[in-house]
Amino acid sequence: MSNRVAIIGTGSIGVDLMCKAIKSKELDLRFVVGRRSDSPGMREAMLRGVETSSEGIYYLEKHIEEFDIVFDATSANSHAEHDRLFSKHNKFVIDLTPAKIGELCVPVINLELLKGKRNINLITCGGQASLPMAYALKKSCDKILYVEVISSISSDSAGIATRDNLNEYVETTEFALKKFTDAEASKAILNINPALPQVCMQTTLYARCEKVDIEKLKSNVSAIVRQVQEYVPGYNLVLEPLVDSGNVTLAVQVYGNGDYLPEYAGNLDIINSAAMAVAKFKSRLSGYSSKIAVIEEGVA
Ligand SMILES: NC(=O)c1ccc[n+]([C@@H]2O[C@H](COP(=O)([O-])OP(=O)(O)OC[C@H]3O[C@@H](n4cnc5c(N)ncnc54)[C@H](OP(=O)(O)O)[C@@H]3O)[C@@H](O)[C@H]2O)c1
Repeated sequence: MSNRVAIIGTGSIGVDLMCKAIKSKELDLRFVVGRRSDSPGMREAMLRGVETSSEGIYYLEKHIEEFDIVFDATSANSHAEHDRLFSKHNKFVIDLTPAKIGELCVPVINLELLKGKRNINLITCGGQASLPMAYALKKSCDKILYVEVISSISSDSAGIATRDNLNEYVETTEFALKKFTDAEASKAILNINPALPQVCMQTTLYARCEKVDIEKLKSNVSAIVRQVQEYVPGYNLVLEPLVDSGNVTLAVQVYGNGDYLPEYAGNLDIINSAAMAVAKFKSRLSGYSSKIAVIEEGVA
């Protein structure tokens, strides 16, 4: 089993991921690295007894033989640099930034197809929340002409890198929507909401389609929601599909596990749980994967 993992990036995503990796019985967290020894995330890692360094990628290079899988939770630009090193050493990377260098992955849709790929890109939080719904819609109509997804997340869960990467967020989410649904056009919007008390992550999908089979859509949506709940228990359909003359609207809410930020920050969980699913899949190419990956069994 190749289960020794490292995390680069000590912000919202990196720290939540660290909590999940520490709790995991299947993964062995070896390093958490960043670029500031006094960042809150780095202090949290030290408190939890994890080996840390502020030398970032240089530290990982020195210890390249001591981990099998690396999670990149920095930023899209930094990931492009990091991946040059990971590629040189043929290191398996799970990229949580919207850099879009690696193979796009939504575990319930295509985990099984990732065998042999070295760099897996997890798109965006809005992508992980909306793509299962968009995929269920694709399987329930003749064609998607236009698909739009609007996600709302709490301001305190969006670090500086998330804000810096808003353009990449939009571009990567829109690209993935087209890739996984063959839609003719796509649009992604992210609303970083400063309201107090903080809002829970919510994603609304609106689409214009040809020949929607409403009963099939309802059944496909509930099947895929159950499958996502296998790795994100707080993923819930809050607006059943409404279909009116080929226009479809539905919405999901995502509550997290509260590993780092409280439960409202489902945006951290939806992508980090996907990252954990990919890492476990990589470390034991059977078992866990067959439980969550084969959507075709549930979606007709
Ligand atoms: N927050 C979300 O809801 C969310 C969801 C899905 C995906 N993402 C994506 O995940 C990435 C991180 O987002 P975030 O919200 O966690 O941002 P963040 O809180 O700003 O975290 C980024 C962390 O990476 C560190 N970092 C940046 N470049 C680095 C480098 N070259 N070497 C080492 N460390 C480096 C930063 O260090 P400093 O502490 O020194 O700044 C910071 O600790 C972004 O690309 C974002 O688009 C975010």
